[in-house]
Amino acid sequence: MSLTALSIQVWLHTYATEGVSDDLAREALSTFTPAYFQSLIADSDYRLLVDVDGDNLLGYILLDLDSRCAEENYGGVEVDTLYVQEHFHGRGIGRALLDHAIETVGARLWLTAWAGNVRALAFYNSYGFVDVGITWHEFEEQKYENRILALQRR
Ligand SMILES: CC(C)(COP(=O)(O)OP(=O)(O)OC[C@H]1O[C@@H](n2cnc3c(N)ncnc32)[C@H](O)[C@@H]1OP(=O)(O)O)[C@@H](O)C(=O)NCCC(=O)NCCS
Repeated sequence: MSLTALSIQVWLHTYATEGVSDDLAREALSTFTPAYFQSLIADSDYRLLVDVDGDNLLGYILLDLDSRCAEENYGGVEVDTLYVQEHFHGRGIGRALLDHAIETVGARLWLTAWAGNVRALAFYNSYGFVDVGITWHEFEEQKYENRILALQRR
């Protein structure tokens, strides 16, 4: 349940920058259901790593081992989701989750990030990801520009 609640909170904070439209609310509520997380945890193509303080979830990273990068020269494991609760931003949790991901699946990581998510793009850039191309996220007839980033270090 905490995965669902944290995801909806972080997702809306990140993407509903002009208020919460019905479209955005539908996407958040239909994506991050408890059943969605149960199925991911049971699926061997995914790894879910969490950062907790006692019983409290602070953030998580979801890795997709079976996803293909749209940019031919890049591949490996996709960082599907990296979410840290707003109260804990800037404390090294995002970096620690990426470090943990590399220990778990190796350093050939790639991901897509919304072009308007300036904070995340700066974070990934400071970690060593570089911009390698463009892709589009489509939901209910809307198209959103996403950047493709790949880790270039180690
Ligand atoms: C992006 C996100 C995961 C970063 O996590 P975080 O825990 O706040 O980041 P960290 O504290 O680990 O920062 C790690 C490094 O990135 C840098 N960094 C973090 N936020 C930054 C920002 N807004 N601008 C520039 N650099 C930034 C830090 O300076 C730090 O560098 P250092 O280790 O050399 O000091 C977090 O802000 C988040 O969950 N955002 C909302 C969800 C989201 O956008 N996820 C990504 C979707 S693609």
